[in-house]
Amino acid sequence: MTVACAQGKIILCGEHAVVYGRPAIAVPVAEVQARATVEDGVEGQSIVIVARDLGRVVTLGDEASDETRDPLLAAAVNTLEYIGLGLGHDLVIVLESTIPVARGLGSGAAVSAAITRALAQHFSKDLTAEQVSRLVYDVEKLYHGTPSGVDNTVVAHQRAVYFVRGQRLEILRVGAPLLLLIADTGVESPTRAVVGAVRSAWQESKDRYETLFDEVGGTVVGIRDAMEKGDAAEVGRLMDENHRLLRAMEVSSSQLDALVNAAKRHGALGAKLSGAGRGGNMIALATPETCQEVKKALQDAGAQGVLQTEVKATTDVTGPLAPSMASPSQR
Ligand code: PMV
Repeated sequence: MTVACAQGKIILCGEHAVVYGRPAIAVPVAEVQARATVEDGVEGQSIVIVARDLGRVVTLGDEASDETRDPLLAAAVNTLEYIGLGLGHDLVIVLESTIPVARGLGSGAAVSAAITRALAQHFSKDLTAEQVSRLVYDVEKLYHGTPSGVDNTVVAHQRAVYFVRGQRLEILRVGAPLLLLIADTGVESPTRAVVGAVRSAWQESKDRYETLFDEVGGTVVGIRDAMEKGDAAEVGRLMDENHRLLRAMEVSSSQLDALVNAAKRHGALGAKLSGAGRGGNMIALATPETCQEVKKALQDAGAQGVLQTEVKATTDVTGPLAPSMASPSQR
């Protein structure tokens, strides 16, 4: 029996604009995880995936479950083919996950990464983080259509990343820890639909949206510099600015704005929606002193759950040198 895990993630800044070649920063969220267990199955049963938390059981070869469309099977099939093993194995893969689905916490990417890691380990094959990232990206396309590649990158590397589509990945240097509160609106965030809506708006008003994307890119560069210096106040100020730009892109919602305003009123250094928007999560940057008050304010303002995580300080940025997924021309 082999077990492997993958952590959730949250986008700190740059969502949407990242689809159009601007930078984004994403960080792992170790408090929520997906876990895959691989066991040899009964002869002739093929590959069975039991996803308890999703209420699903899928079997390779079953007419009802098509591996070219089912993300769980796709993750397993792509991995087995990639490590040169073919599909003639009898395996049971059990999935468990504490990552809320469709809330911008990287549930899909983490489940895929856990399957890929567990299968590789089960057959004693080593995969680099970059290889895991590529395999997960292929599955992300089934979930999201035209993903930027930021989710699979942060989930595979499990480090704070500064990501620009098609460019060499940068692992972030973080000068001082950042305390984040992640509050759930309780509303699903349909990434594919929201990304599609932004695309339509961009097609109709290209100049306006390109300007908004450039401004987002500016805030992300500023946040990276502030994170490196350990300047939390400046990170917060730029998060507010990023939220203002996301509102201008029409991807916020009344619930997201209510949570953002509540956090700000109770001492958050910055607050913004995170991920595709129109639902899902928002993030608030707190300090050890303000954390409890901001958390309570978020709960009082209707948050369905508040998760606390820390972006850890680090100076070790030895990381991958390979280019990140998908060049801008593929979007
Ligand atoms: O909802 P999430 O966390 O998967 O984030 C989507 C982020 C977008 O920038 C809106 C899309 C993308 O592919 O990067």
